[in-house]
Amino acid sequence: MDKIVIAIDGPAGAGKSTIAKIIAKKLNINYVDTGAMYRALTLKALKNNIDFNDKNSLISLLDKTDIDYYDNHIYLDGKIVDNEIRSNEVSKNVSKVARIKEIRIKLVEIQRKIASNKSVIMDGRDIGSHVLPNADFKFYVTASVDERSHRRYKELISKNVEISLKQVKEEIKQRDEIDKSREFSPLIKSEDAILIDTTRKTVEESVNEILNIIKKGM
Ligand code: CDP
Ligand code: CDP
Repeated sequence: MDKIVIAIDGPAGAGKSTIAKIIAKKLNINYVDTGAMYRALTLKALKNNIDFNDKNSLISLLDKTDIDYYDNHIYLDGKIVDNEIRSNEVSKNVSKVARIKEIRIKLVEIQRKIASNKSVIMDGRDIGSHVLPNADFKFYVTASVDERSHRRYKELISKNVEISLKQVKEEIKQRDEIDKSREFSPLIKSEDAILIDTTRKTVEESVNEILNIIKKGM
């Protein structure tokens, strides 16, 4: 295969980005984190004190914003914001930004452009179902909500964030709910996506499961 396109979708904490980054390295292709783009706009909205229920202000903010993703970095107005976009404040609000159709249309345009001329593994919520419907491989990666919450909790605690497991679980459930129920390109498993359940599996086991499928189909 000259050019390979791999789509990975699923809910928060399922292991998408961890798995996708490893596979990108092994196959020597580009990794694209689409969630980082929605997070970058959310970060800018927080910095500008924009009300997350004010759809028009969020749309016009994007008009004045430059978002790009390359070489494993997310750029907001030309500046790398890899760490800032992972704050819990961004996580709590990002789904409210991502549910706006006009914002999705613009960011999807950037995502398709990135994938147009090179091999990519792209992760998000609507990659196989909407952004790259002709992807060579589509995976829907998931895990139980308890396991996903526990993974996120461990990450936050290691960064000294004061939060309880119960709170993390509530926030993940709320975000899943908004992502799955939004009108425009919600989180769904497209029919042709292969289901990968990472519950009680190590990262290595999940990566190997996906790599074996890719290698067989190449
Ligand atoms: O890493 P985590 O799973 O917590 O989230 P993410 O991949 O960084 O995505 C953050 C949020 O962006 C998601 O909860 C969605 O609301 C939104 N998103 C989306 O709507 N569509 C995508 N293709 C990627 C992310
Ligand atoms: O991108 P997504 O939100 O789906 O998940 P992530 O940001 O990759 O976070 C998943 C976390 O669970 C990371 O800390 C991984 O080390 C861990 N993990 C995993 O990804 N896969 C497993 N099979 C087991 C643990």
